[in-house]
Amino acid sequence: MLTHKINEVKEHVKKWKQEGLKIGIVPTMGALHAGHGSLIKKAVETCDRVIVSVFVNPIQFGPSEDFDKYPRTLEADVKLAEGLGADLIFAPSADEMYGEGQRLSNDTLTYVVPPFFYVNKLCGKSRVGHFDGVCTVVLKLFNITQADYGFFGQKDAQQLIIIRKMVNDLNIPIELIGCPIVRDDSGLALSSRNKYLDEKGKEDALALNKILNNIKACYNKGVNDISALKETAFQFLNEAHDLEYLEFVDKDNLEDKTTADDNTLVLIACRVNDVRLIDNITLK
Ligand code: PAF
Repeated sequence: MLTHKINEVKEHVKKWKQEGLKIGIVPTMGALHAGHGSLIKKAVETCDRVIVSVFVNPIQFGPSEDFDKYPRTLEADVKLAEGLGADLIFAPSADEMYGEGQRLSNDTLTYVVPPFFYVNKLCGKSRVGHFDGVCTVVLKLFNITQADYGFFGQKDAQQLIIIRKMVNDLNIPIELIGCPIVRDDSGLALSSRNKYLDEKGKEDALALNKILNNIKACYNKGVNDISALKETAFQFLNEAHDLEYLEFVDKDNLEDKTTADDNTLVLIACRVNDVRLIDNITLK
């Protein structure tokens, strides 16, 4: 069932809670693909009732980012989510989420601001304010749905670590479940933004996965010097690529690594024909 209203979600949640049912939330921005599908499947396996939110959250996009052109495919999203067993699809408008006519800025709206250490690196460096917007909307979704479990993809690894930190720091009563990256047959990590890529772009985009796999293969052969591992990336890059970062951090707390080890998470962000893509791999 589809609803656009917070009150309707709350009514369902109240009833489900009275029946003692466990509720799962799968927060999404829509344009659902098999990656989201894997989160919904995991939620359906784990919980008695599953809510999928579909909301392109304006406050997590910078002024020059792709908010306006972000793909919106609600009808197909509802079909996919319901087909996998979701009980409720919550697709609010921005007015419904943030208040009618509310100016979306941090001098008029209460924001959740994650710690500087976690946001001043990787995606947060180029997307200033992005994780404030993410944490704010995610906390609102947790509060509206009173969910027992929240499901997030590992592809957005920094996002998941920051949300874990928020849940821990603010004592939010929810258990987070991180789900593995889903890739297509060629190895490309699924992303709603892949819709912006043409055939050549998709081929060029494979460089991200090739770089990460090659780094892991070199690490498995005994190379743990990070500069040497980074060097191996360049053979996969050409004029279609604009590398934003290739970083080695601790998989739990995002601390920079000085040498690679089994707890290392390698993250990459790269523009491919001007489409910003991210991917990551753990070395273990
Ligand atoms: O990962 C996403 O799609 C979004 O950042 C999220 C978690 C749904 C918040 O808008």
